[in-house]
Amino acid sequence: MDITKVVIPAAGRGTRFLPLTKSVPKEMLPLLEKPAIQHIIEEAFLSNVKNYIIINSRGKTALEDYFDDNIDLSLFLKENNKEALLHTLEKINRTSTFTYIRQAEQLGLGHAVALAAQSIQPKEYFGVMLPDDIIESKSPGLDQLIRIARQEKASVIAVQEVPIECVSSYGIIEIKKHITPNLFQISHIVEKPQQKDAPSNLAVVGRYILSQKIFTSLDHVKTYGSGEIQLTDAITNMIQNNEKVFAYKIQGLRYDIGTPIGWIKAIIGMALQHPYYAPHVKNFLADIETSNSYVYKPAKIIQNSL
Ligand code: UTP
Repeated sequence: MDITKVVIPAAGRGTRFLPLTKSVPKEMLPLLEKPAIQHIIEEAFLSNVKNYIIINSRGKTALEDYFDDNIDLSLFLKENNKEALLHTLEKINRTSTFTYIRQAEQLGLGHAVALAAQSIQPKEYFGVMLPDDIIESKSPGLDQLIRIARQEKASVIAVQEVPIECVSSYGIIEIKKHITPNLFQISHIVEKPQQKDAPSNLAVVGRYILSQKIFTSLDHVKTYGSGEIQLTDAITNMIQNNEKVFAYKIQGLRYDIGTPIGWIKAIIGMALQHPYYAPHVKNFLADIETSNSYVYKPAKIIQNSL
């Protein structure tokens, strides 16, 4: 099974990051010195997948510019012996293909993925990576799924255990069969269930390997559903049409950077793993603990003073 393409839906409004996202795509938020989207592309690149289909929307041209050559800047860096600063990005650019597809109306994640239909061949399997989910792991998150997809010759989605009181924020899988402690065949995905209705506490994480058949299911969901088109509904539809779908407990640390608090945690978490940043951050956090200038002031008082 050859997996050579990933679809990266990045057309969402990012309302949880307003007002920033009024003009800055949340995919460009920095995690240390790289924007979130570069972390995603690097994960795919390290998984040996080098064709990226990015679904974007109005006001998100910063993404296209970022992966374009900047000849002036490259020349300047070369003259100043600083080429190393762009080395990884230029290597990715030289050896990969980027395709951009516009989503004119934000009709949901399923709709965004469906826009890539023409880029995927019959019987082809492809990856889907959501830039809100950053995975730090020994072996790249996408590569873990590719191995399972090859082994089972089927679609596979990433999952992680979440506390049962948090299930209503996620797509939650129903297990049909335990294959190993980390691998399950699934029968159903329930989008944001109440705690009492949740079939498990295994939540879908933003990494998928999907069969091209997902596009038929997305068409079906589009025709018979109402409101936003959910990718999870299309996956359930695919299972109802006798396609096997597996869920794999992804090995690694996952940061959900779709909210400011998740993004703050990701930056601190990543900085604490980094040989240069870690001592600075540790010292800073220790200083905050002991200093009077960081006494907590309730946000309400600060906002009222604007
Ligand atoms: P979210 O549900 O997180 O929505 O989308 P969002 O718009 O990004 O953020 P909020 O909820 O308004 O704060 C999950 C993923 O699906 C993409 C998003 O870009 C994100 O990667 N998406 C969502 C699209 O590409 N198009 C859509 O119509 C909706």
